[in-house]
Amino acid sequence: MSYNIAIDGPAGAGKSTIAKKIAKQMNYIYVDTGAMYRAMALFLIRNGVTKEDTEKIEQVCKKADISIEYRDGEQIVLLNGENVNGLIRTEEVGNMASVSSANGKVREKLVQLQKELAKKADVVMDGRDIGTCVLPEADTKVYLTASSAVRAKRRFDELTQKGESCDLDKIEQDIIERDHRDMTREISPLKQAEDAVLVDSSDMTIDEVVEKIISLCK
Ligand code: DC
Repeated sequence: MSYNIAIDGPAGAGKSTIAKKIAKQMNYIYVDTGAMYRAMALFLIRNGVTKEDTEKIEQVCKKADISIEYRDGEQIVLLNGENVNGLIRTEEVGNMASVSSANGKVREKLVQLQKELAKKADVVMDGRDIGTCVLPEADTKVYLTASSAVRAKRRFDELTQKGESCDLDKIEQDIIERDHRDMTREISPLKQAEDAVLVDSSDMTIDEVVEKIISLCK
């Protein structure tokens, strides 16, 4: 039987950084489910679908084949065979993903892929509904969060480091809006699973969070 760790939480809580480190230390596979929703969002944007057009989202998403591969330990998201890793980390794609991921047809497709991956291997999977829907039987479940101000500052630093100019207040506003959408949507909203351990990373270092989660697995 494979060992599954589920990490859920809002945008910018540090899920991917932490999940990657845990995967490395424990020799597990890291599955970034947000990247799959982002690849789908990119496909929708490329096909001229707008956030408001629910019907079109359902039609067009059927034509997207999303899969993942691992190269040198890094997850590569393939959209109809194309490596889109370098194209999905923009605010535009993130905001579209937050809207299109509320769609039942989009989720059906991607959740199935995620379940299959977790059956085959020991995984650390991060997202919004991993502990509640994708892997309800996960061996360790964590709900990782931080205040919106801290999350906005982390995102701001990340973008600034990449040389992108951005506005801290606007980022925090976007984060609050995205949280609200992710938490109030009808299908698989972001919420803490009853048996998940709450970890607030606002005043913790990355390594402290990693250690805490690894200790929960033992
Ligand atoms: O974690 P992220 O920012 O890369 O995720 C992008 C969007 O995808 C996010 O707004 C919510 C959605 N998402 C989801 O609905 N379910 C998941 N398991 C992962 C992400």
